[in-house]
Amino acid sequence: MSQPLNDYIKAKRDLVNHYLRDYIVQSTREGRIREAMLYSVDAGGKRLRPVLMMAACEAFGGRDVDVIAPACGLEMVHTYSLIHDDLPAMDNDDFRRGSPTNHKKFDEATAILAGDALLTLSFRIISHASSLSSNHRLSLIQSLSEASGATGMVEGQMRDMQSEGQTIALEELERIHQHKTGELLMFALNAGALVGGADDKQLTALESVARHIGLIFQIQDDILDVIGDNEKLGKPIGSDEGNKKSTYPQLLGLDGAINQKASYVAQALDALTEAGVNHTYLAQLILHLSERDH
Ligand code: IPE
Ligand code: IPE
Ligand code: MG
Ligand code: MG
Ligand code: MG
Repeated sequence: MSQPLNDYIKAKRDLVNHYLRDYIVQSTREGRIREAMLYSVDAGGKRLRPVLMMAACEAFGGRDVDVIAPACGLEMVHTYSLIHDDLPAMDNDDFRRGSPTNHKKFDEATAILAGDALLTLSFRIISHASSLSSNHRLSLIQSLSEASGATGMVEGQMRDMQSEGQTIALEELERIHQHKTGELLMFALNAGALVGGADDKQLTALESVARHIGLIFQIQDDILDVIGDNEKLGKPIGSDEGNKKSTYPQLLGLDGAINQKASYVAQALDALTEAGVNHTYLAQLILHLSERDH
Protein backbone atom coordinates (compact mmCIF):
# COMPACT_ATOMS: atom_id res chain seq x y z
CA MET A 1 0.00 0.00 0.00
CA SER A 2 2.25 2.67 -1.29
CA GLN A 3 -0.11 5.61 -1.77
CA PRO A 4 -2.65 7.40 0.46
CA LEU A 5 -6.20 6.08 0.09
CA ASN A 6 -7.52 9.28 -1.52
CA ASP A 7 -4.89 9.14 -4.27
CA TYR A 8 -5.59 5.46 -4.76
CA ILE A 9 -9.33 6.11 -5.16
CA LYS A 10 -8.72 9.02 -7.52
CA ALA A 11 -6.45 6.99 -9.81
CA LYS A 12 -9.04 4.20 -10.08
CA ARG A 13 -11.89 6.66 -10.56
CA ASP A 14 -10.05 8.42 -13.41
CA LEU A 15 -9.50 5.11 -15.15
CA VAL A 16 -13.16 4.14 -14.81
CA ASN A 17 -14.34 7.54 -16.06
CA HIS A 18 -12.18 7.23 -19.13
CA TYR A 19 -13.40 3.75 -20.06
CA LEU A 20 -17.04 4.40 -19.19
CA ARG A 21 -17.22 7.28 -21.64
CA ASP A 22 -15.35 5.31 -24.28
CA TYR A 23 -17.61 2.26 -24.00
CA ILE A 24 -20.74 4.39 -24.30
CA VAL A 25 -19.52 6.47 -27.22
CA GLN A 26 -18.34 3.39 -29.11
CA SER A 27 -21.57 1.47 -28.57
CA THR A 28 -24.13 4.20 -29.36
CA ARG A 29 -24.94 6.57 -32.20
CA GLU A 30 -24.98 10.32 -31.87
CA GLY A 31 -28.34 11.55 -30.63
CA ARG A 32 -30.62 12.00 -27.66
CA ILE A 33 -30.22 8.56 -26.09
CA ARG A 34 -26.42 8.79 -26.07
CA GLU A 35 -26.68 12.31 -24.68
CA ALA A 36 -28.99 11.19 -21.86
CA MET A 37 -26.77 8.19 -21.00
CA LEU A 38 -23.64 10.33 -20.89
CA TYR A 39 -25.41 13.04 -18.92
CA SER A 40 -25.95 10.82 -15.87
CA VAL A 41 -22.66 8.97 -16.20
CA ASP A 42 -20.67 12.19 -16.57
CA ALA A 43 -22.54 13.90 -13.72
CA GLY A 44 -19.98 12.33 -11.41
CA GLY A 45 -20.59 9.78 -8.74
CA LYS A 46 -18.02 8.30 -6.43
CA ARG A 47 -17.46 5.14 -8.52
CA LEU A 48 -17.28 3.15 -5.29
CA ARG A 49 -18.42 -0.11 -6.84
CA PRO A 50 -15.77 -0.16 -9.58
CA VAL A 51 -13.11 0.95 -7.07
CA LEU A 52 -14.10 -1.91 -4.74
CA MET A 53 -13.97 -4.35 -7.65
CA MET A 54 -10.48 -3.23 -8.61
CA ALA A 55 -9.32 -3.34 -4.98
CA ALA A 56 -10.68 -6.89 -4.61
CA CYS A 57 -8.99 -7.95 -7.85
CA GLU A 58 -5.69 -6.45 -6.73
CA ALA A 59 -5.95 -8.05 -3.28
CA PHE A 60 -5.69 -11.45 -4.99
CA GLY A 61 -2.99 -10.48 -7.44
CA GLY A 62 -5.00 -9.26 -10.46
CA ARG A 63 -4.61 -6.04 -12.48
CA ASP A 64 -7.02 -3.17 -13.18
CA VAL A 65 -7.11 -3.89 -16.93
CA ASP A 66 -8.43 -7.37 -16.16
CA VAL A 67 -11.57 -6.03 -14.47
CA ILE A 68 -12.16 -2.70 -16.16
CA ALA A 69 -15.00 -4.07 -18.35
CA PRO A 70 -17.10 -5.61 -15.54
CA ALA A 71 -16.24 -2.60 -13.36
CA CYS A 72 -17.71 -0.23 -15.97
CA GLY A 73 -20.62 -2.61 -16.60
CA LEU A 74 -21.45 -2.53 -12.90
CA GLU A 75 -21.30 1.27 -12.79
CA MET A 76 -23.72 1.36 -15.75
CA VAL A 77 -26.20 -0.87 -13.90
CA HIS A 78 -25.82 1.29 -10.80
CA THR A 79 -26.34 4.52 -12.77
CA TYR A 80 -29.43 3.08 -14.47
CA SER A 81 -30.82 2.12 -11.04
CA LEU A 82 -30.35 5.71 -9.82
CA ILE A 83 -32.02 7.24 -12.91
CA HIS A 84 -35.07 5.06 -12.36
CA ASP A 85 -34.96 5.46 -8.55
CA ASP A 86 -35.31 9.25 -8.98
CA LEU A 87 -38.34 9.07 -11.30
CA PRO A 88 -41.62 10.58 -10.08
CA ALA A 89 -43.12 7.08 -9.80
CA MET A 90 -40.35 6.10 -7.39
CA ASP A 91 -38.54 8.57 -5.09
CA ASN A 92 -39.41 11.65 -7.14
CA ASP A 93 -36.11 13.45 -6.62
CA ASP A 94 -34.93 16.50 -8.56
CA PHE A 95 -31.19 16.39 -7.93
CA ARG A 96 -28.59 13.68 -8.32
CA ARG A 97 -24.82 13.89 -8.37
CA GLY A 98 -25.09 17.65 -8.02
CA SER A 99 -27.17 18.13 -11.16
CA PRO A 100 -30.85 17.96 -12.09
CA THR A 101 -32.01 14.33 -12.30
CA ASN A 102 -32.19 12.77 -15.74
CA HIS A 103 -35.98 13.20 -16.09
CA LYS A 104 -35.68 16.86 -15.03
CA LYS A 105 -32.94 17.55 -17.56
CA PHE A 106 -34.61 15.57 -20.36
CA ASP A 107 -38.07 14.06 -19.75
CA GLU A 108 -39.49 10.94 -18.15
CA ALA A 109 -39.58 8.85 -21.31
CA THR A 110 -35.95 9.69 -22.10
CA ALA A 111 -34.89 8.91 -18.53
CA ILE A 112 -36.58 5.51 -18.63
CA LEU A 113 -34.94 4.71 -21.97
CA ALA A 114 -31.50 5.97 -20.90
CA GLY A 115 -31.77 3.63 -17.90
CA ASP A 116 -32.81 0.71 -20.10
CA ALA A 117 -29.93 1.41 -22.47
CA LEU A 118 -27.32 1.55 -19.69
CA LEU A 119 -28.60 -1.69 -18.18
CA THR A 120 -28.42 -3.61 -21.45
CA LEU A 121 -25.11 -2.08 -22.49
CA SER A 122 -23.48 -3.38 -19.32
CA PHE A 123 -24.02 -6.98 -20.43
CA ARG A 124 -22.77 -6.24 -23.90
CA ILE A 125 -19.55 -4.75 -22.52
CA ILE A 126 -18.89 -7.78 -20.33
CA SER A 127 -19.71 -10.22 -23.12
CA HIS A 128 -17.08 -8.56 -25.33
CA ALA A 129 -14.38 -8.17 -22.65
CA SER A 130 -11.20 -9.41 -24.32
CA SER A 131 -9.26 -9.39 -21.03
CA LEU A 132 -11.49 -12.14 -19.61
CA SER A 133 -11.64 -15.85 -20.35
CA SER A 134 -14.98 -16.95 -21.82
CA ASN A 135 -15.71 -18.84 -18.58
CA HIS A 136 -15.26 -15.67 -16.57
CA ARG A 137 -17.35 -13.64 -19.00
CA LEU A 138 -20.25 -16.07 -18.73
CA SER A 139 -19.96 -16.35 -14.98
CA LEU A 140 -19.96 -12.55 -14.54
CA ILE A 141 -22.93 -12.08 -16.85
CA GLN A 142 -24.84 -14.68 -14.83
CA SER A 143 -23.97 -13.20 -11.46
CA LEU A 144 -24.61 -9.58 -12.52
CA SER A 145 -28.01 -10.49 -13.96
CA GLU A 146 -28.91 -12.22 -10.69
CA ALA A 147 -27.56 -9.39 -8.53
CA SER A 148 -29.44 -6.73 -10.46
CA GLY A 149 -32.69 -8.53 -11.30
CA ALA A 150 -35.91 -9.74 -9.72
CA THR A 151 -34.18 -11.62 -6.90
CA GLY A 152 -31.51 -8.91 -6.43
CA MET A 153 -31.54 -5.12 -6.62
CA VAL A 154 -34.97 -4.93 -8.26
CA GLU A 155 -36.44 -7.02 -5.45
CA GLY A 156 -34.93 -4.62 -2.90
CA GLN A 157 -36.38 -1.62 -4.72
CA MET A 158 -39.78 -3.34 -4.85
CA ARG A 159 -39.75 -4.12 -1.12
CA ASP A 160 -38.53 -0.59 -0.39
CA MET A 161 -41.51 0.85 -2.25
CA GLN A 162 -43.92 -1.61 -0.60
CA SER A 163 -42.71 -0.71 2.88
CA GLU A 164 -43.28 3.03 2.42
CA GLY A 165 -45.44 4.36 5.23
CA GLN A 166 -45.16 1.12 7.21
CA THR A 167 -43.30 0.18 10.34
CA ILE A 168 -41.12 -2.84 9.67
CA ALA A 169 -38.81 -4.98 11.81
CA LEU A 170 -35.03 -4.57 11.69
CA GLU A 171 -34.68 -7.97 9.95
CA GLU A 172 -36.96 -6.83 7.13
CA LEU A 173 -35.04 -3.55 6.81
CA GLU A 174 -31.80 -5.53 6.56
CA ARG A 175 -33.36 -7.72 3.89
CA ILE A 176 -34.42 -4.66 1.87
CA HIS A 177 -30.96 -3.10 2.13
CA GLN A 178 -29.26 -6.38 1.41
CA HIS A 179 -31.10 -6.51 -1.89
CA LYS A 180 -31.37 -2.92 -3.02
CA THR A 181 -27.76 -2.01 -2.23
CA GLY A 182 -25.96 -5.12 -1.03
CA GLU A 183 -26.32 -7.29 -4.10
CA LEU A 184 -24.44 -4.96 -6.46
CA LEU A 185 -21.71 -4.45 -3.86
CA MET A 186 -21.47 -8.23 -3.43
CA PHE A 187 -21.05 -8.52 -7.16
CA ALA A 188 -18.27 -5.91 -7.06
CA LEU A 189 -16.24 -7.89 -4.54
CA ASN A 190 -16.98 -11.28 -5.94
CA ALA A 191 -16.19 -10.34 -9.54
CA GLY A 192 -12.96 -8.61 -8.53
CA ALA A 193 -11.80 -11.55 -6.41
CA LEU A 194 -12.77 -14.13 -9.03
CA VAL A 195 -10.87 -12.38 -11.81
CA GLY A 196 -7.96 -11.69 -9.43
CA GLY A 197 -7.63 -15.41 -8.78
CA ALA A 198 -9.18 -16.01 -5.33
CA ASP A 199 -9.89 -19.64 -4.45
CA ASP A 200 -13.32 -20.98 -3.40
CA LYS A 201 -12.58 -20.68 0.31
CA GLN A 202 -11.53 -17.06 -0.08
CA LEU A 203 -14.59 -16.30 -2.24
CA THR A 204 -16.84 -17.70 0.48
CA ALA A 205 -15.13 -15.65 3.21
CA LEU A 206 -15.46 -12.58 1.04
CA GLU A 207 -19.24 -13.01 0.82
CA SER A 208 -19.54 -12.05 4.46
CA VAL A 209 -17.29 -9.02 3.94
CA ALA A 210 -19.45 -7.95 1.01
CA ARG A 211 -22.70 -8.49 2.90
CA HIS A 212 -21.54 -6.20 5.67
CA ILE A 213 -20.17 -3.61 3.26
CA GLY A 214 -23.67 -3.44 1.72
CA LEU A 215 -25.24 -2.80 5.10
CA ILE A 216 -22.57 -0.25 6.10
CA PHE A 217 -23.05 1.53 2.82
CA GLN A 218 -26.82 1.80 3.05
CA ILE A 219 -26.90 2.66 6.76
CA GLN A 220 -24.56 5.58 5.99
CA ASP A 221 -26.79 6.58 3.04
CA ASP A 222 -29.76 6.63 5.46
CA ILE A 223 -27.80 8.59 8.08
CA LEU A 224 -26.66 11.14 5.49
CA ASP A 225 -30.26 11.58 4.37
CA VAL A 226 -30.87 12.90 7.91
CA ILE A 227 -27.69 14.76 8.85
CA GLY A 228 -25.84 15.14 5.53
CA ASP A 229 -25.14 18.28 3.57
CA ASN A 230 -27.13 18.84 0.35
CA GLU A 231 -24.18 20.45 -1.39
CA LYS A 232 -21.69 17.71 -0.56
CA LEU A 233 -24.14 14.93 -1.29
CA GLY A 234 -25.35 16.38 -4.57
CA LYS A 235 -28.86 15.12 -3.74
CA PRO A 236 -31.51 16.50 -1.40
CA ILE A 237 -31.56 15.37 2.22
CA GLY A 238 -34.85 14.55 3.91
CA SER A 239 -36.04 12.56 0.88
CA ASP A 240 -36.60 9.41 2.99
CA GLU A 241 -38.74 11.17 5.58
CA GLY A 242 -40.72 12.88 2.84
CA ASN A 243 -41.40 9.51 1.21
CA LYS A 244 -42.12 7.81 4.58
CA LYS A 245 -39.29 5.34 3.95
CA SER A 246 -38.19 2.73 6.44
CA THR A 247 -34.60 3.57 7.33
CA TYR A 248 -32.12 2.75 10.09
CA PRO A 249 -32.41 6.16 11.80
CA GLN A 250 -36.18 5.93 11.63
CA LEU A 251 -36.13 2.47 13.22
CA LEU A 252 -33.23 2.75 15.69
CA GLY A 253 -32.84 6.51 16.16
CA LEU A 254 -29.74 8.32 14.92
CA ASP A 255 -27.44 7.07 17.72
CA GLY A 256 -28.79 3.56 17.37
CA ALA A 257 -28.05 3.65 13.64
CA ILE A 258 -24.50 4.87 14.27
CA ASN A 259 -23.91 2.05 16.80
CA GLN A 260 -25.33 -0.50 14.39
CA LYS A 261 -22.94 0.73 11.72
CA ALA A 262 -19.95 0.30 14.07
CA SER A 263 -20.99 -3.28 14.70
CA TYR A 264 -21.21 -3.99 10.95
CA VAL A 265 -17.74 -2.46 10.43
CA ALA A 266 -16.24 -4.74 13.09
CA GLN A 267 -17.89 -7.78 11.49
CA ALA A 268 -16.70 -6.80 8.00
CA LEU A 269 -13.11 -6.41 9.19
CA ASP A 270 -13.23 -9.79 10.98
CA ALA A 271 -14.44 -11.46 7.79
CA LEU A 272 -11.68 -9.75 5.81
CA THR A 273 -9.10 -11.23 8.18
CA GLU A 274 -10.66 -14.64 7.60
CA ALA A 275 -10.24 -14.18 3.84
CA GLY A 276 -6.57 -13.43 4.50
CA VAL A 277 -6.62 -10.01 2.84
CA ASN A 278 -6.88 -7.64 5.78
CA HIS A 279 -3.71 -5.70 4.97
CA THR A 280 -5.01 -4.32 1.69
CA TYR A 281 -6.79 -1.24 0.41
CA LEU A 282 -10.03 -3.16 0.90
CA ALA A 283 -9.75 -2.76 4.67
CA GLN A 284 -9.15 0.97 4.32
CA LEU A 285 -12.08 1.25 1.91
CA ILE A 286 -14.46 -0.29 4.47
CA LEU A 287 -13.54 2.39 7.02
CA HIS A 288 -13.74 5.05 4.33
CA LEU A 289 -17.26 3.93 3.34
CA SER A 290 -18.48 3.97 6.91
CA GLU A 291 -17.30 7.55 7.43
CA ARG A 292 -18.04 9.05 4.02
CA ASP A 293 -19.86 12.40 3.98
CA HIS A 294 -21.11 12.15 0.40
C1 IPE B 1 -26.42 5.92 -3.88
O1 IPE B 1 -25.24 5.28 -4.29
C2 IPE B 1 -27.56 5.01 -3.92
C3 IPE B 1 -27.50 3.84 -3.07
C4 IPE B 1 -27.41 2.65 -3.57
C5 IPE B 1 -27.63 3.97 -1.63
P1 IPE B 1 -23.87 6.06 -4.26
O2 IPE B 1 -23.77 6.84 -2.97
O3 IPE B 1 -22.75 5.13 -4.56
O4 IPE B 1 -24.05 7.11 -5.45
P2 IPE B 1 -23.01 7.73 -6.47
O5 IPE B 1 -22.71 6.67 -7.47
O6 IPE B 1 -21.79 8.17 -5.74
O7 IPE B 1 -23.77 8.88 -7.09
C1 IPE C 1 -31.37 3.59 -4.07
O1 IPE C 1 -31.59 3.74 -2.72
C2 IPE C 1 -30.94 2.19 -4.33
C3 IPE C 1 -30.93 1.91 -5.75
C4 IPE C 1 -31.03 2.81 -6.69
C5 IPE C 1 -30.80 0.53 -6.14
P1 IPE C 1 -32.01 5.20 -2.24
O2 IPE C 1 -33.31 5.63 -2.83
O3 IPE C 1 -31.86 5.24 -0.76
O4 IPE C 1 -30.83 6.05 -2.90
P2 IPE C 1 -30.69 7.64 -2.86
O5 IPE C 1 -30.71 8.02 -1.42
O6 IPE C 1 -31.84 8.16 -3.65
O7 IPE C 1 -29.37 7.89 -3.49
MG1 MG D 1 -35.08 4.71 -3.41
MG1 MG E 1 -33.72 7.50 -3.83
MG1 MG F 1 -31.12 7.03 0.33
